[in-house]
This record gives sequence, structure tokens and C-alpha cells, in this order.
Amino acid sequence: MSQTISASATQPGSATALRPIAELHVHVEGTLEVELMVKLARRNGIVLPTYDADVLREKYKFDSLQSFLDIYYENLAVLKTEDDFYDLATAYLTRAAAAGVRHAEIFFDPQTHLLNDIPIEVVFGGFSAALGDARTNLDVSSGLIMCFLRDQGADAAMQTLEQALPFRDSFIGVGLDSAEVGFPPSLFTDVFARASAEGLRRVAHAGEEGGPDYVWEALDLLGVERIDHGNRALEDPYLVARLRDEQIPLTVCPLSNVALRTASSDLSQHPLLNMLDEGLLVTINSDDPAYFGGYIDDNLTAMTEALDLSPAQLDTLAENSFTASFLPEADKIRYTAEVSKYRAER
Ligand code: ADE
Ligand code: ZN
Repeated sequence: MSQTISASATQPGSATALRPIAELHVHVEGTLEVELMVKLARRNGIVLPTYDADVLREKYKFDSLQSFLDIYYENLAVLKTEDDFYDLATAYLTRAAAAGVRHAEIFFDPQTHLLNDIPIEVVFGGFSAALGDARTNLDVSSGLIMCFLRDQGADAAMQTLEQALPFRDSFIGVGLDSAEVGFPPSLFTDVFARASAEGLRRVAHAGEEGGPDYVWEALDLLGVERIDHGNRALEDPYLVARLRDEQIPLTVCPLSNVALRTASSDLSQHPLLNMLDEGLLVTINSDDPAYFGGYIDDNLTAMTEALDLSPAQLDTLAENSFTASFLPEADKIRYTAEVSKYRAER
């Protein structure tokens, strides 16, 4: 088996060296492990059907994006206080650091919490404190990307942006997530234009379940700088050429794709190698690790086993993650040099 960046993997020359990587596609709400969910439910007096973590986990069998989203949104009712949001983000950042993550650009879904009557300042307060402490305590840099729930519509997205703008310094960009088919990017042109005018970076989930036309719209109408997932872009050679020529990153999430059957039912059939062969700027990410079988290192380990990825291919994926990030150029160079150092010393 080729080398991986598994948190437990030791490398020659150092018992603890991990390949540095950035995670660019992770929903912080999708990192809510059942154990933390039970803890928060008890803390907040919320009734769950059972407090047995194993029984709760048994529900995690999906056959589509929607079958996952139904459970994901239901579980988020346990998040009530600033401490809850802090604990959630801190648990993710701690686990990510153990996987070699040096930088994370983290999605969050404020509309879900607003619908649960949680004021937006509670959400920002908890997440911002956790990200600040992770920089100090874990040496992990990070930023928040606020996603609009596409199935709540364009007006709700605009209202959410307005509500968030007093916290403009607490997030770096906007994204688009939730149910894809039937909610094309074209619906969100105005809110993305507004976000752009505010200097926010732009990304969107596209081509996860929706076709290549959703990816075209995200690029042409929303001006996104990265495509989240994008697997179905491979169906359109002109789109592949555009993505390659402009080096527009695709943030790919293999365990998610298999769990939700959005790209392949088996990791060995995953299109990652085609994407790399096509010269696309691909990164590997975990999406919703508490639901899909693992964190970024688990994704890399599983893909290494399924596709026999070489150490050089893993280096490329790590370099891509920093290149595709929204970090300042100097930081990209510094982190990419860390990957080179890792390569030289392994
Ligand atoms: N929200 C959380 N995970 C998601 C995914 N994989 N696709 C769309 N929306 C999401
Ligand atoms: Zn996602």
C-alpha cells in the first residue's frame, strides 16, 4: 500500500511527521459526531429518540443527498448556545490538526440555526472563538464560508447575507449548499453579486447531483472561484477544458460521493484519477465526516487503497489544497514549502 497521511501513520525520520494539507470542503455541522450530539442534547434538555450513540448511528444509511440532509438538519436541533457552536468547531479543528490539516476553510449553514431560533450572533460568537483558539492552540489557520441553503430560495439567502454583514470580518466567503436539483445557481445571481461587492470569496456546490449545466451557471452567473464536488463536470468535455484552462479547483469528497451514491457506488470506480489525468486542480476533502465514514485523512487513506495512489500523487493533492485555498500568496508559498520539506524528508 502506498504512503498516506493517516493521523496514525509514522514516517521515516520522524515518528510524528504528517503531510501538511488544507481542507477546503467541510461543513462544520457535518462534523457533529453522535457522541457530541448526545452530550449537547443532555446539556440542553433536548429529547432524542435514544441516547445510545450506536443506535443513532444506525440511521446513517443513505441513498441520495436528500436522505442524508433530512437527518443532518434534524440533528442540528441540539445546538443552542455559543458554547455548543464553540465545542463543535473545536472538536473538528482538533481532529483535523491530528490529520495534518494546517489550514481549513469551513462551511457553516446559518439558516438552519436561524430556523431553530438561534440568533446569528450566537453562531458567529461560538465559531469565531473556536477558530481563534485553534490558531493559538493547534497552529491551524482557518476561515468561515457562509453557505446559503439553496432550497430556502433566493430571498432568504439575501436576508441571511444582510443579517451576517454586521459580522463581515468573521467570514471570508459565501457558498451554496443543500438540495441541488431544482435549485440552479441562476436563482442566486443577485445575492452572489452582493457578496462579491462586499469583497467576499465565492464558491458553490455544483455537479454533485446536478448536471454540468449547474457547474456552468455557477461559473458564469455566480462568478465562483471554486466548485464544490463538480464530479458531473466530467460529462462535458468543453467544461473540463474550461476548468483545466482556468485551473478552477474542484473540492472532491470521495467518501461522501460513495455514501450518497453521487459519483460511484464504490471508491475503486471514483473519477479522481480521470480528473488528475485531465489536468484538473483537484483537492480531497471530507464534506460531512461524522456521517460518511471519516475525516480528510480517512478519505486519503481509503482512496490510496482503492486507487493505489502513489506518494507523489498524494503530494500533488496536498499542494493543490494550498494552491486552491483563499490564503494570501505568501502563506500558500510557505505551506507548499512545508509539503516539499515533508517530501524531501520522508
Ligand atoms: N450540506 C451538507 N453537506 C452537503 C452536501 N454534501 N451537499 C450539499 N449540501 C450539503
Ligand atoms: Zn459539501
